[in-house]
Amino acid sequence: QSSVTEEYRPNYHFTPESGWMNDPNGLVYLDDEYHLFYQFYPDSTVWGPMHWGHAVSRDLVNWESLPTALYPDSLGYIFSGSAVFDAENSSGLGTKENPPLVAIFTHHNAEEAETSSDTFQNQSIAFSLDKGRTWEKYSQNPVLKNPGIRDFRDPKVSQITNPDGSKSWIMTLAVLDHINFYSSPDLKNWSLLSEFGKTIGAHGGVWECPDLLPFKTPAGEQKWVLLVSINPGGPQNGSATQYFIGDFKNGEFTPDDTMIRWIDYGPDNYAGVTWSNLPTEQNRTLFIGWMSNWLYANVVPTKAWRSAMTVPRALSLFDVDGTLLLKSAPAIELEKLRSEEFEINQTEAGLPSEAVELTAEVKSDSFSMTLSNELGESVIISKENGLVSIDRRNAGKSDFQRDFAAMHSAPMSWEAKEIRIFLDASSIELFINDGELVMTSILFPTSPWKNVAVSESLNSLKIYNLKK
Ligand code: FRU
Repeated sequence: QSSVTEEYRPNYHFTPESGWMNDPNGLVYLDDEYHLFYQFYPDSTVWGPMHWGHAVSRDLVNWESLPTALYPDSLGYIFSGSAVFDAENSSGLGTKENPPLVAIFTHHNAEEAETSSDTFQNQSIAFSLDKGRTWEKYSQNPVLKNPGIRDFRDPKVSQITNPDGSKSWIMTLAVLDHINFYSSPDLKNWSLLSEFGKTIGAHGGVWECPDLLPFKTPAGEQKWVLLVSINPGGPQNGSATQYFIGDFKNGEFTPDDTMIRWIDYGPDNYAGVTWSNLPTEQNRTLFIGWMSNWLYANVVPTKAWRSAMTVPRALSLFDVDGTLLLKSAPAIELEKLRSEEFEINQTEAGLPSEAVELTAEVKSDSFSMTLSNELGESVIISKENGLVSIDRRNAGKSDFQRDFAAMHSAPMSWEAKEIRIFLDASSIELFINDGELVMTSILFPTSPWKNVAVSESLNSLKIYNLKK
C-alpha cells in the first residue's frame, strides 16, 4: 500500500495485478480449486478488446494469478460466459479418463459491430484438459449463431437432471430485453427451448449476464431463481442485478409473481454469477460479483489496475411475511481472515487497519455508524424509518464522475437484528441479518478510515482486523 500506484488496492478482495477487469466469468470448481476467470484487458486500465483473465484459489481469499486463458481471435473479443466440468465427456473434447473443462462464451466481433450487421455476437466454446491451465478453442466455433439480434450474449451453462434421470445442458442467454433458454446433449449443438422476460421485470437497460439456480425454500419446496443483470436501470442508477423466483419445468421459466427484486441494493455489485461443479457436501450456492458500476467503472481513481470483485457470498432463499427473497451471506471462509478481535464498549473506537470487519447487534431497528478519517471525510451507514442507506457524499474522491458522490437507500420493511460490515481499501459491504439486505459501495477516501462512531442502538460492537 506504500506506493502511489497501489493506492486503493484491496487487501482481501480479488483484483488483477494490472490492467482492466469487469465481469466474473467461467466460475467453476475442480479438484479443490475455485477458478475465477474474468473480463480482462491487459493492455490498459480502460475497457478494450476482451480476454479472459484467470486466477485460482483454495480458500476464496488467497488468489493465485494464472496466465491469460483466452485471447481475442478472428471471430472477435472474448465476452462473458461460464465454464462447466464435462465429467462424462459429452462434448468429446476430452476423454473418459480425462474429461474436459469447457468454457462457453460470447465471441463479439468488434469490426462487424461497426457495420449495419446485427449478428456480431455468437456463442463459442473452448476446452482445457489440464485443470484450466491451457485452453484450446473448438475448431468449429461458433456453436450457437446469432439470429439477428444485436445483444445476444453471456451464456451461463448448467447441467440439470430431467424427470427420467437423464442429464441435459441448459444455456441461459441474455438477448437484449429477455432471456433465451437452450438445451444441448453435448455443449456443441444447441436448440431453443423458450424465451422469458420481455414483459416482466426491470427494463431500464439491456439484459446481461444471467444465471439459473435451483434452491429449496425454507418450507422445503423446490424453486428456481433467475439472476439477470441490467445496465442501466438499476435501483441506484447504472448497473445492478435483478432476480426472479419461480419454476423451471419442461424448459420454461415461470415466475411466481411480478415483483422486481434486487440482489444487492448498493451501486457496486454487477454481473455476478455462481460457481458450477461445487461438491454437493458444500451444500451452498456461491456467488461473486464485479464491484463496480458502468456509470464510472472506466474513470475510478486507481492507477495500475481497475476494479475488484465483491467478497464471495452464499445465496439462499428466505421468507419475509410470505414473500420469498434471496439472501447473500458472506462466505464462511472470510472468518479465517479475522486476525485480532476488539470488543468495543463505547460508541467510538479507532480502526486497526484499512481491512476490517465490524459486527454489531441492532437494539431498536434503527441505527447509524459513521466511519471517518482525519481529513473530515466520512461514510455513514444507517437504518431509519424502514430505509437502509450508505451515504458516500463526503467519502473522499468523487470528482471523476458526477453521479458518484451520492446517498444510496434501500427499503427494508422487516427488522434489522444484526449487521456485518466488510471494509477494505476502497470498498464497504453491508450485510444486515446475515445478508437479508445487502449494499455494496466502492469508496475512495483520501486517507484510510481511522475511526468508527455508532449510535446507542448498536450493541456489542466488535472490530476484527483482517489479514490474509
Ligand atoms: C457486462 C458486459 C457483458 C459483456 C461484457 C463485455 O458488464 O457488458 O454483457 O459480455 O460486459 O466486457
